[in-house]
Parts: sequence; structure tokens; C-alpha cells
Amino acid sequence: MSRKLKVINVVGARPNFMKIAPLWREQKKYSNDFESILLHTGQHYDYQMSQRIFGDLDLPKPDIYLNVGSGSHAEQTAKVMIPFEKCLKELEPDLVLVVGDVNSTLACAVVASKMHIPVAHVEAGLRSFDRTMPEEINRLLTDQLADYLFVTENSAITNLIHEGRPIGRIFFSGNVMIDSLVRSINKSDDAILDKFKLNPDEYALVTLHRPSNVDDPETLKGIINALIRISESVKVIFPVHPRTRKNFKAFYLDDLINSTAANLIVCDPVGYLDFIALERDAKMVLTDSGGIQEECCYMKIPCLTLRYNTERPVTIDCGSNKLTGSNPENIVQHAMGIINNPPTELHTPDKWDGRAAVRIIEEIRWLFEMAPKSKRPLSVKV
Ligand code: UD1
Ligand code: UDP
Repeated sequence: MSRKLKVINVVGARPNFMKIAPLWREQKKYSNDFESILLHTGQHYDYQMSQRIFGDLDLPKPDIYLNVGSGSHAEQTAKVMIPFEKCLKELEPDLVLVVGDVNSTLACAVVASKMHIPVAHVEAGLRSFDRTMPEEINRLLTDQLADYLFVTENSAITNLIHEGRPIGRIFFSGNVMIDSLVRSINKSDDAILDKFKLNPDEYALVTLHRPSNVDDPETLKGIINALIRISESVKVIFPVHPRTRKNFKAFYLDDLINSTAANLIVCDPVGYLDFIALERDAKMVLTDSGGIQEECCYMKIPCLTLRYNTERPVTIDCGSNKLTGSNPENIVQHAMGIINNPPTELHTPDKWDGRAAVRIIEEIRWLFEMAPKSKRPLSVKV
């Protein structure tokens, strides 16, 4: 390729930032080959959900900010699609790079694909097989449209092949979320533990934001009651996602949360470096997040996933993750199990080594003829 490859790197919501950061850095290493544009849809916009995380990841200010904000699924997806189409008309990129499974991921993949612009999907092929999850719809459709599918674990390869995606377009690259973790883990200190008066290995860390857990009053109340019971045995810290915070208020649960003893600490979302410090030193993590299941797996921290399925089965196979569902009794029982008898046989998944972005950019350079044809990167071939 004689001119630079123009790549639009799409981000929208919190977990996208950790995934794009290493890919962005790797493109910058080859500045003769890439013209990289960072586009933020604005799906997440609070300082703590966006700007703060950009700072922690050393990501620059986005080149393009679409400012779409919140809305129903159709509204939000459409609000991304319309200005994104205009950007693509104006910029005529050679590649659109999307990550993960949020509405911004799908919206940008649809628009690019209809304009015949190649799409690369990083974190392709994960499946919960639960179509009530909006993310499952986003994953299925993005993977049907994407030209290049970079996967984090073997289950994703099987899923994509079952769905008829050609094997030659699937690349087992490893996990870019773990690249960010590996780079950042030593940069994060324990100041956040001091701030909340926490001792390493003596507290549980909680996050919740799945609609199935937080959009139904009875389910959310049941989970809070389970956390209150757990906090009688071990301190609990709970940085609250804005969706969940909104529902505490809507379902009149603020009093229940605030009435508890000091052992249940509820706070706003924390920065990325602070969050991984809290994760690293936790006795256990209780979550319904996708990325946090993976981070716990890499750091070998016991993780209880408050869901009935996971699209990341390797985290269960490697020993750190267990599914509890949202039944309060079950959650408490599993948490007590970890307090009394923490798991010991924990492993790290294949290629979760901090070098996934290196492999992905190496492969993209080869695919777009920026690297010698004779040297196809073997590392990412299935
Ligand atoms: C989104 C993703 C989800 C991902 C999560 C990561 C979709 C369908 N969902 O869920 O896959 O796991 O991000 O955190 O894309 N809000 C704010 N401030 C913000 C952002 C959101 O107040 O900066 C509130 C708004 O009331 C909004 C609600 O949170 O309506 C939900 O936000 P939205 O982006 O629609 O979905 P998430 O639940 O954040
Ligand atoms: N995270 C963070 N601050 C918090 C909670 C989470 O920086 O208060 C980070 C966490 O370390 C992980 C990512 O956010 O890297 C996960 O994002 P989230 O749970 O919002 O989305 P999901 O992975 O479920 O799509």
C-alpha cells in the first residue's frame, strides 16, 4: 500500500476505552503506515465514565465527538448512525475498527458495512446465547457484518464457524482488555484503599449494571439485601454505575442502601487505575460486567458473576469465575463459600499476555499489504 491506511477507531462506552487504548498506541508506533482517527460517539459522557478513564489510559482527546448521549436502543443507535455516515462520507477511511458489544459498536459497523468500508471487530464471537441481552444482538449482527474478526478465546472461534463466518477471517489474537490491564496494573497504587479504609484481602468489590439485574425493582432489592448480608462478614465496596444509581432513586432504594452499617460502602464509579487497584486487592468480586470477569480471571481474583450465563466461558474454565444468577440466597451462599474456602487452581487463558494489540496490528498491516507478503504473522492464524 503506497499511502497511509486511514483507520477510524470507534469508542462509545466505558469498556471500549480500555480495548481501543492498546490498539491506538500500536497504530501510533507505525505512523508511516497509519492515519489513525479516534472517534467517540458520546454514548457515555459523565466525567467518571469517560474523560477520567481517557486520562487513566493516556488516550488523547477524541478527534471526533458525536455527542449522542443516552436514549432508547433505537434512538441511541440511530443517533450514532446518522452523524457517523456523514463522517465516513467526508473522511473516506480504509478501515473502521470497532470493539466489544455496545450500541455504538453495532451502529458504526452497520453504517460502514453499507458504505462498503471494511470493518474489523475486536472481541468478536463471544456469545451468551441469551437474546434478551442487548449486547447479544449487537454481537451477532456486528459479527455478521465484520470483515475481520479478532477473538479472545476458543469458544468464539467455534461460535463464529457455527454462524457461517469464514475461517480465514477469524484471528485468535488474545485479549486487548488484558493488554490495558498489564500496562496499568503497576501504575495503580493503593491510595483508593486508604481513602475507603480498606485492607487488602478483607473486602468484596461489587459492580452492577445489567438491565436484568438493575431495571427490575424486586431483583435489585434482592441483590442489595444479599450485599447487606455479605457485609456482615466482610466489608463491601460498591462503585455504582449511573444506570443503577438512577434506579436506586426510581425504586426508592436509597434509604435501604443508606440505612446499612458502614460495612457497605456505596460510591460513584471510580477511575480505571483506582478500580484495578480495588480489584487486585479484593477478597472477591461480585459483578455482572463482562470486562471485570476477564480482569479477575487474569489477576486470579475469585469472581461471582450475578448472571445465569456468560459469553466468556474461558473465565469459568480457568477457575476464577462462578455464575450465581440473581437469587439472593445463592449469592450469599457462594460469597460465604469464597470467604471460607477460596479457590486455588486458577489459570490464565491462552494469549492473555498483554500483546493482543501487537498481534492485531501486525495482522492488519499484513492484510493491507504494509508488511512483507512472505511474512504472514503466524501468531494470529486459527
Ligand atoms: C452500556 C452498554 C453495556 C455495557 C455498559 C458499560 C449497550 C446496549 N449497553 O450499558 O453493554 O456493559 O454500557 O458500562 O450499549 N448514564 C449516565 N451517564 C453516562 C452514561 C449513562 O447517566 O455517562 C445513564 C443514563 O441514564 C442512561 C443509562 O445510564 O440512560 C444507561 O446508559 P446506556 O449507555 O444506554 O447503557 P449502559 O447501561 O451504560
Ligand atoms: N471500571 C472502572 N471503574 C469502575 C468500574 C469499572 O474503571 O467504577 C472498569 C473495569 O476495570 C473494566 C471496565 O470498567 O476495565 C468494565 O466496564 P463495564 O463494567 O462498564 O462494562 P462491560 O465490561 O460489562 O461491558
